[in-house]
Amino acid sequence: MDMNKTARPDGPVISVAGVSKRFDTTLALDDVTLAVPAGEVTVLLGLSGSGKSTLLRHVNGLEQPTAGAVEVLGQPVSSLSGRSLRTLRSRIGFIFQQFELVGSLTVLENVLTGSLASVRGPRLGLWSYSRTARLAALGHLDRVGLLGQAYQRADTLSGGQQQRVAIARALMQDPEILLADEPVASLDPDSSRQVMDLIREIGSERSLTVLCSLHQVDLAISWADRVVGLRQGRVVLDAATFEITKDEVMRIYGPAASAADIAALEAVVTEHRPGGPSRVKVGE
Ligand SMILES: Nc1ncnc2c1ncn2[C@@H]1O[C@H](COP(=O)(O)OP(=O)(O)O)[C@@H](O)[C@H]1O
Ligand SMILES: [Mg+2]
Repeated sequence: MDMNKTARPDGPVISVAGVSKRFDTTLALDDVTLAVPAGEVTVLLGLSGSGKSTLLRHVNGLEQPTAGAVEVLGQPVSSLSGRSLRTLRSRIGFIFQQFELVGSLTVLENVLTGSLASVRGPRLGLWSYSRTARLAALGHLDRVGLLGQAYQRADTLSGGQQQRVAIARALMQDPEILLADEPVASLDPDSSRQVMDLIREIGSERSLTVLCSLHQVDLAISWADRVVGLRQGRVVLDAATFEITKDEVMRIYGPAASAADIAALEAVVTEHRPGGPSRVKVGE
C-alpha cells in the first residue's frame, strides 16, 4: 500500500496560491488564490473562457502555472513528475463534459478502465481484469443505478446515463478528490439534476472533496457549499452559497448577466432560504 494514500495533509486538500497562467497572449488565470478544505463541495462559476477548465487542470497537474504554486493532498503538484505525479493523479477523479467513454466498449469495461492507473500493462477485454476489480466495477454501476446496463455498449446509453458511467469509472480509483468540468453542460435539465444529485450524494458518502465547474448560477447555488466566481481569470467571488447576493453574482457575469440568470438566482435563493427573505433583489 502506498503510504501517501493514508497521509492526510493538515491544511487544505487543494491549495492554489497566487497562480497565474499565460497562454501566449492570453492570461487564462490571473493571481488566483483558493483553498478548499477536506469534504467541501465547491463550484467554480464563470462564463465560457473565464478560466474554469484551466484552473481544474492545474489541480491534477495537467497544466503548470506560469507563476504561483498548487498544492494538492499536501503535495506540490507543479514540481511532481513521473511516478509521483501518477500516484497523486490516482487519488483525484476527473469527470468531463463529454463523458470521454469508449462507445464501442461495454459499460462495464468503461468502468474498469478507471482502475488502469493502478494496473500495469494494457488490458484487453473483461477477463484481463481481476475478479476483485470486476466486482468493484459492478458495485459502482449498481451505485449509479446502471447495473442492468453493464453489458451494453456505452454508446447505446443516453447522455445522462453515460455521465453516470463516467462517475462509476472515477470511483474505481477510490479517489479522495473529485474534479468535474461542466459535467452537465451537454445534458437536459432533468438529467442534469440527476447527475448533480448523484455527485453530491456520492461525495458525501465517501467524504470526497469536490471541485466542479459550472456556468449556471441556479444550479451552482442550489448545489454547492461554496461558490468561487471567476471572471477573465480572476477570482471575483468566494462565498458560502447561503450568503451570495445579486451584486456578487453580477461581478462574475458583469454586463453579460441576463435577466434570466438573475431571475433564476432569485427563485433558487428564495426557495433554499425558507427562513428569511432573500437578499437578492431583482430590478433594483
Ligand atoms: N491550451 C491553451 N492554449 C491557448 N489558450 C488557452 C488554452 N487553454 C485555455 N486557453 C484560453 O484561456 C482562457 C480560459 O480558458 P478555459 O480555462 O478553457 O475557460 P473556461 O473553462 O472557463 O471556459 C480562454 O481565453 C482560452 O481561450
Ligand atoms: Mg471549460
